[in-house]
Formats: sequence, structure tokens, C-alpha cells
Amino acid sequence: MKKFKKNILCIGAGYVGGPTMAMIAYKCPQYKVTIVDINPARIDEWNSDNLPIYEPGLDEIVKEARGKNLFFSTDIEKGIIESDIIFVSVNTPTKTFGVGAGMAADLQYWEKTARQILDCAKSSKIIVEKSTLPVKTARAMERILTSKNSKIQFDVLSNPEFLAEGTAVNDLKNPDRVLVGSRLTKSGIKARDELVEIYANWVPRDRIITSDIWSSELSKLVANAFLAQRISSINAISVLCEKTDADITDVAAAVGLDSRIGSKFLNASIGFGGSCFKKDILNLVYICRNYGLYEVADYWESVIRINDYQQKRFVLNMLTTMFNTLAEKKICIFGFAFKADTGDTRESPAIYVAKRLIEEKAELVISDPKALKNAKKDLDGIDENVSYIEDPHKAAKGSHAIAIMTEWNLYRDLDFEKIYKSMIKPAFIFDGRNIVDHKKLYEIGFNVFPTGKPSLTHFK
Ligand code: UDX
Ligand code: ADP
Repeated sequence: MKKFKKNILCIGAGYVGGPTMAMIAYKCPQYKVTIVDINPARIDEWNSDNLPIYEPGLDEIVKEARGKNLFFSTDIEKGIIESDIIFVSVNTPTKTFGVGAGMAADLQYWEKTARQILDCAKSSKIIVEKSTLPVKTARAMERILTSKNSKIQFDVLSNPEFLAEGTAVNDLKNPDRVLVGSRLTKSGIKARDELVEIYANWVPRDRIITSDIWSSELSKLVANAFLAQRISSINAISVLCEKTDADITDVAAAVGLDSRIGSKFLNASIGFGGSCFKKDILNLVYICRNYGLYEVADYWESVIRINDYQQKRFVLNMLTTMFNTLAEKKICIFGFAFKADTGDTRESPAIYVAKRLIEEKAELVISDPKALKNAKKDLDGIDENVSYIEDPHKAAKGSHAIAIMTEWNLYRDLDFEKIYKSMIKPAFIFDGRNIVDHKKLYEIGFNVFPTGKPSLTHFK
């Protein structure tokens, strides 16, 4: 007797696959959800009390569903055979070799998965693209899946994931929208409706939107490009603010109150990181160049150029402000994750800043509540003069400067009087996130360098 209404499989137990499937299992006890991965250590962690990713609220959901209708396994073949619907969320990093190196998406894991599905499947299935992919990937997937001419039918859908790390559980529970793209054929629409039914278990129908498959694939890239563009726009203005004594927080507030513009995603910063923004824009740029759309490609590429510039100028500002030498100076880095509430450091601006400071022969102390394990991996081989100390008070002791890289809430309420006393004078603080009270820190004695605001220094 079949106990579950549907068997759902997810290939790839990462930041996207893990939380998304955990939410489907939690919200839909009538479905069996299995997540498989080629990495046995990752699967062991998903089956333990120490999940491989830190995401607020995720532990509770996984604990509630695991063993009942949520399973983690390395048996990919069995998973494929038993499934009705397969979500694919394997990694698609930027290519590091050959044609399109540094720009195009590396689709090798994706293609291997398609071939494995074809080899193992014994019945028809719906295949859902969950990872972010270049537009038209579904066509390649279909071509591979139909290459055997068997009776088994595969319907490929695009269902891009819009969750953001750190808020993934809430984003999955209350999404702004769920997008399902399909072929507009009879069987494509039937497959699309089956996927819509799954989400309709908890997402209001009017937030589940459908489109043709190419629009769906492209929408994900464009959504990320627009979000990143807002950050680069505000960061570009932050430099101008520093030159003109304007305050970026006031400018962003005034601009954001225009309901056509909106107030979100206007925080000036050290720059965006994360596994998606840069990769997706590079992808978009690569596709545009492929079609000969050079002006469009250059336009989007400038979003990345501003992001790189923001990080470069941060280090340069530290160097020039601290009397043009950082050699043997102790610099404390507050935060290594690419944003708060995650341990993820992929493309984190902190990596660039740390590497540049190491080149300048500074001594680094890195502090972060969740990302030290990843920070050690990122700086492996070059961290002779780096120490890792979780407690920010201890980390800052004896340092010449503090550089804030991540907007962790805990950095807002530290005992800065105590920290100041323990530092070498003159003491500097460079706030790459504008999260501390700059005036208060200045009054304590710090020389304060916010982002996009006039600096507050005690120098004559
Ligand atoms: C992003 C998209 O938001 C999400 O929809 C998509 O599915 C994946 O990519 P994520 O990278 O997890 O999510 O985090 P996000 O909150 O978008 O932040 C990205 C980066 O931008 C972070 O480094 C963050 O600190 C930075 N940021 C964000 C700013 O510098 N300023 C802002 O105002 C907002
Ligand atoms: P994302 O942020 O897109 O979720 P991750 O790197 O966190 O990316 O996760 C992708 C996961 O996919 C990794 O755990 C990786 O081991 C897994 N993976 C890659 N290729 C395959 C494959 N062929 N079969 C199963 N899992 C795979």
C-alpha cells in the first residue's frame, strides 16, 4: 500500500535544496520528501543535531518532519526510481576554465544529474529546475532526457528559488510569489498544475504565478540583477556623500519614500556578497554578449564594477587614514559572513578585505558568531598572521583598528568603552555596514569612518 500521496525527490542538499524541501515536508505531511546528495558528510550532518547550514528557524522545521516524511540520503538511484517529482538544486558555480571562464555558469553538475535521471528512471517524471540557471537550460535538459527515445516522459519545469539566506524560513513560509514556468503544451501545463498544487498547500493562490519556461528562467536572473543594481546604485552615491558631507542614510530615506522607488535594499555597505548576485549578473552579461547585445552587457557589468570598487576603496581608505602603512598593525574584523544571520561566506566582501590587509602585512583577528569555520577555509594557506576569536571584546583587544564587515546585531550593543580602552591609540573604526552609533563612538574617543557619511576624527 502506498503510504504517501506523492514521492518528491530533491537532488542537491545545499542552501537552496535543504530549506526548501524541509518546508515542503513540514507543510505537506501527505508527501514523502527525500533529499539526496553526492556528499555523504553533508547528508550525515542533515541527519544529525548539527545541520550543515545555519538558518534561523530551520532546526525546528527539520526536527519536526525528519524521519516522518523528510529523509536525507546518499542513495540517488533509489531516490530517482521511487520519485514522481524531482527538484534539481545542484550547484551551478561560475566557470573557472575554458570558454566563458569567469562569466558563464558551469553546468557540469547539472548535466551529470540530467544523465543520471535518464539512466535510472523507470517511470515518467516531472523535473523541476530549482537552481539558478542560464535562460534556455531547460531546453538542454529536455534534449538530454529525451535522447533515449524511450516511452518514459519527462516534463521540465522552471521554479526559481527567491529565498534569501538568513530569512530563508520566513521567505519560504510567506513568499512574495512562487513562479512556475512550463512548456505551454498539454503535458507541460498538466505538470505545472501538479507543482502549483504542492505550493497551494500553504501559499495563497494569487501568489503562485505561472509563465512560459524561458520567462521563468530569465526572471530569476533579472530579479537578482535588479536587487544588486539597487545596492550598487546606493553605494555609488555613498562615495559622493563622503566627498560632499551629505549623509547616505538621509539620502536613502528621502529617495526611498517615493513609493515608486521603495525603501528596501537601499543600505549602503561594503558591497554585496553571497552565492547569487555576482554569479547571476555575470551569467546575464555572458548571455547578452552571446547575442551580440554589448551595450546591455556593459550596463549590467557596471553593477559588479561598482561593487568591486566599493571594496577596493574601503581598504584604500583604511590604508591612507592609518598613516599609509598597515604593516604589523593589528586589525580586528567584525563579521566574515556575507550578511547577518548566516554562516555562509561565499563571495563575502570580508574575503577580499582580509586578503588585501594580509598583502599589506597587517595582523588580522577575525571574529564572527557563525562563520569562523568557513573563514578559515577561505583564508587557508595565507593565514599565518591571522587569528580567529569568536568573542568580539577579546578579538578587538590590542588592535589598532576595527573593520565592520557584517551587520550582525550583536555588534550594535558591544561595550565600546571597554573595547576602546583595550585598543592601541589612536583607535580607528571603519564601519562597512553603518550599524554602530557613530557619534557615541566618536565621543568615546574612536576615529570613526562610516560608509557614505562624513568621518568623525579627533585629528586637527
Ligand atoms: C539573494 C536574493 O535576495 C534572493 O532573492 C535570491 O534567491 C538569492 O540571492 P541572498 O544572497 O541570500 O539572497 O541575500 P540578500 O539579502 O539578497 O543580500 C545579498 C547581499 O547584499 C548581502 O551581502 C547583503 O549584505 C547585501 N545588501 C543587501 C546590501 O549591501 N545592502 C542592502 O540594502 C541589502
Ligand atoms: P546552493 O546554494 O545552490 O544550494 P550548494 O553548493 O549549497 O548550492 O548545494 C549544492 C549541493 O549539490 C551540494 O551539497 C553538492 O554536493 C550537491 N551536488 C552537486 N552535484 C551533485 C550530483 N551530481 N548529485 C547530487 N548532489 C550533487
